[in-house]
Amino acid sequence: MQTRETFAAHPMITDEEICRALNHAAEQVRRQLPEFYDCFPAAASVDNFYPKTANDDWTNGFWTGEIWLSYELTKDNAFKEAALHQVKDFKERMIKRVVVDHHDMGFLYSPSCVAAYKLTGDETGKEAALMAADNLLGRFHEKGEFFQAWGQVGDPDNYRLIIDCLLNMPLLFWASEVTGDDKYKSHALRHIRTSMKYVIRDDASTYHTYFFDPRTGDPVKGVTAQGNRNGSIWARGQSWGVYGSAISYKYLKDPVYIENFRRVTECFLNHLPSDLVPYWDFDFDDGSDEPRDASSAAIAACGMLEMAKYLKPEEAEYYRGCARRLLKALTERCLYRDGTQTNGILLHSTYAKSSQWNTVSDGGVDECCIWGDYFYMEALVRLSMDWETYW
Ligand code: GLY
Repeated sequence: MQTRETFAAHPMITDEEICRALNHAAEQVRRQLPEFYDCFPAAASVDNFYPKTANDDWTNGFWTGEIWLSYELTKDNAFKEAALHQVKDFKERMIKRVVVDHHDMGFLYSPSCVAAYKLTGDETGKEAALMAADNLLGRFHEKGEFFQAWGQVGDPDNYRLIIDCLLNMPLLFWASEVTGDDKYKSHALRHIRTSMKYVIRDDASTYHTYFFDPRTGDPVKGVTAQGNRNGSIWARGQSWGVYGSAISYKYLKDPVYIENFRRVTECFLNHLPSDLVPYWDFDFDDGSDEPRDASSAAIAACGMLEMAKYLKPEEAEYYRGCARRLLKALTERCLYRDGTQTNGILLHSTYAKSSQWNTVSDGGVDECCIWGDYFYMEALVRLSMDWETYW
């Protein structure tokens, strides 16, 4: 556990350390580029090495996003060429409908195809991302007012939203911007309103998923999928809540989302162990030998840096300082050392850890997770340049 005082005593990453860490991360992306040119790193590494996978998971966009971040950092056309090559594959994926019957269109298409369009005006990226946005709209429930995360649309056993989906909303706001059609953002607004109302508990901790009644759309109950138990705080879910609140405020400018951000973020920070690398679930704290989820700290840092853009200077500085403290801890304890140790960037993340109460099997436990690598780089990029976000 941390208090504001114990957390404030931790050192912040310096500009020089940011520059060094970012170059080190981009070097790894460059090293892996030939290996993952026509294919992608899997969601999680095995013994710290990502196997190759096709473009068929919810996570593929993060690798292309890392390539775009490396391009922004270095302006080296080798990165641009490789990322644009992958963008074509993302369009093919939509055309052929390869594993797209789920809500993670934003995770897939924002850091890959929206980024391509924003950085280069690439029309293929724009078309692919708009197809993905239309696909996501098909998962909206008028009753209940939310996007169904998983499973066949309308299936009573899957009639639920999940907190992670807040990060899928920027794709819809972007789609409204480029098409001039408000339907995307009006659905995003309704989903955000529903999510925020039900996933944030009274003490500012969060549910991972929330079920609704398929007949009436009435709220039923919060349930975990990847957390330790229904009433626990899954670290990554909480960090999706931090970044998701910041994004919600960015697009909707409703002060309620600033307040949500403050509360959810404080809860995240309070539950960090003494070395600031989150346990995978906040049921665990100092002294536990449960694995960590470094990726959740990287996600939370990005959310704090996004929110800082909209706050008064003193409060903005507070959250930038928090992000710098998290990044210092991640850089010291989780950044890869050299290319023989791993083909990833951020060690010590956890994709899924089984417990007697949740529904997942162990997978990617104490490994690199591709979104951890991406969000660690994004947070460093945010601190080192005036960065136009992909989200
Ligand atoms: N969005 C799925 C996860 O965070 O594992």
